[in-house]
Amino acid sequence: MREQINYHSWRYYALDDPEISDAEYDSLFRELETLEAAWPALSGENSPTRRVGEQPATGFASVTHLRPMLSLNNAFSDDEVEAFAQRVAELLATSASVEWAVEPKFDGLAISLVYQNGHFVSAATRGDGSTGEDVTGNVRTIRAIPLQLCTPDPPARLEVRGEVLMLKRDFRRLNEEQHASGNKPFANPRNAAAGSLRQLDASVTAGRRLHFFAYGTGYCEGWSMPATHGEVMDQLAAWRFPVSDLRRVVTGTSGLLAYYHEIGRERHALPFDIDGVVYKLNNLADQERVGYVARAPRFALAHKFPAEEATTRLLDIKVQVGRTGALTPVAVLEPVAVGGVTVSHATLHNEDEIHRKDIMIGDWVNVRRAGDVIPEVVSVVLSRRPADARRFVMRETCPECGSTVVRLPGEAVARCTGGLSCPAQRKQALWHFASRRAMDIAGLGERLADQLVDAGLAKDPADLYQLTVKQLAGLDRMGEKSAINLVKSIANSKQASLDRFLFALGIRHVGEQTARDLARRFLTVQELASASREELLQVPEVGEVVAESILHFFADAHNRSVIEKFIRYGVESRQSSANPVGQTPLSGKTLVLTGTLSGMTRDEARAWIERLGGKVSGSVSAKTDYVVAGADAGSKLARARELGITVLTESDLIAFAEQQRGES
Ligand code: IVH
Repeated sequence: MREQINYHSWRYYALDDPEISDAEYDSLFRELETLEAAWPALSGENSPTRRVGEQPATGFASVTHLRPMLSLNNAFSDDEVEAFAQRVAELLATSASVEWAVEPKFDGLAISLVYQNGHFVSAATRGDGSTGEDVTGNVRTIRAIPLQLCTPDPPARLEVRGEVLMLKRDFRRLNEEQHASGNKPFANPRNAAAGSLRQLDASVTAGRRLHFFAYGTGYCEGWSMPATHGEVMDQLAAWRFPVSDLRRVVTGTSGLLAYYHEIGRERHALPFDIDGVVYKLNNLADQERVGYVARAPRFALAHKFPAEEATTRLLDIKVQVGRTGALTPVAVLEPVAVGGVTVSHATLHNEDEIHRKDIMIGDWVNVRRAGDVIPEVVSVVLSRRPADARRFVMRETCPECGSTVVRLPGEAVARCTGGLSCPAQRKQALWHFASRRAMDIAGLGERLADQLVDAGLAKDPADLYQLTVKQLAGLDRMGEKSAINLVKSIANSKQASLDRFLFALGIRHVGEQTARDLARRFLTVQELASASREELLQVPEVGEVVAESILHFFADAHNRSVIEKFIRYGVESRQSSANPVGQTPLSGKTLVLTGTLSGMTRDEARAWIERLGGKVSGSVSAKTDYVVAGADAGSKLARARELGITVLTESDLIAFAEQQRGES
């Protein structure tokens, strides 16, 4: 066990390239501690439990810390926290409520800064706790770290302790750059921070935008220490060290646990990673009375969050058909606990991503699940690759319908060409067909579209026109009255203009504008269906890609038979007068809905947005224009804040709509 732990701590501390997750490492370490406690005779001087970290890597000079840099004992449950607090109370021989300084546990790397007469003179990593690596030149590039204390009366000598980390947004930017320059991406912000700090060339560190939070002091001389940790932190803040504004002073175990749960709820919205919270006795004299064990203070505790990253086997890669025909590779994993739940599947995004991350079937992979985000395979542990690992090749046919899979040049996504014949795409097609800007069938939202397909009532959108009140009334949450209304609105939609009908068909690359252009040139859908490439290319704005897509759509036998059905059922859209659509407040804007809206359903909000010319997307990215946040909005809201995207409330949305009404 000691060998194993030594090996893993070398991978982690010396190489910045761990093979196992922190949680696995923690559990190995605890097992060894338990074994040594049970058989004290077998515990030796050189056990990893007797030291704090690992030997410095070659390339940096060694520095001896003025005071050792200790580690923290960990707790993973409320019970362990209770036991800890009780032990401290016993050691203090008090039954009164104890005062605690509490703060986030930053997920970066520990650093000790030395100031002489207020001037920054050196910086060192933790190393083995007593000796670390001299990273002065690199640390000097971190702008958050003051090079001079902001006081006319500085201590003669002072060690400031804290954590160097990388903000999530800088991490994403760095990985984009790594990708663009053909370098391996970093697995997480902590690894990126460690890799950036331990650069032999400090100018590389300078370009990496590292951040720092102070969490305490080490040695000090010529400064009369205040009475509490809270006051030490206030003094550090006054000297212009970055300190977390989430630090508090609380009392009793209930105060500790309340803080833990509060920060746990906020953690994903923070701009940096934290892996738990830290509790420290607030009174410094009490800290000394309670004292230390071998590698950690007895007066402090790290209460860890469930690990959000874990290492597990990639058993297989399956392909899932998305609602727009996009094929997404999905990792089938040996089940593993991540972020408090058991994960057995994770997204792999697309084929290129798999090869970029050099992931093979059979590999050990690092899986991440943060908050309510879909679990993702972040990286592979190359040193554990088995000899029989297999390379992933994208299928040539759709697993749902057997149609050919194509990947157009310049696109990352492979798609099923089955269109309306592919069951996975039918629900989406049906919903799109009925949407406001297409056939505008009131009452037919996403949920109902799913039900109709699942119940076999609508194999394609043309089937809608044969639905009876009786069939509909049998569906979940559908009374007779709403069934009657729905049948009416379906029948009304037969009058929709040709451009709406063409848009409703969901032909790839045929958006609303193209549909309008086509409807001006071709008077019926039959005319369009029999148009030649040359005729299509005569339509303004129709280029090779669009023409090809239209030809492809109408060449498909299934699509042709659906069109025939439409005509048979009386959906004979003709282009009437022009159908002008003016500028609307949300024209061309992409919005994301998150949280619980109070006055409208998601479908209704979506309909509002679409009517105002906007588009609703499921995930927040740089392309998002607005995020509409309701109650209890979670990670999407946090991401929006990180990206500086304007956040709207439900009433902002209604105000937009009213503005629109006023204009028209
Ligand atoms: S106090 C004597 N406070 O956690 C205790 N440590 O597992 C000294 N860490 O090496 C540590 N955030 O790098 C303390 N708010 C915080 C912390 C924190 C992160 C790290 C630190 C330390 C490790 C111990």
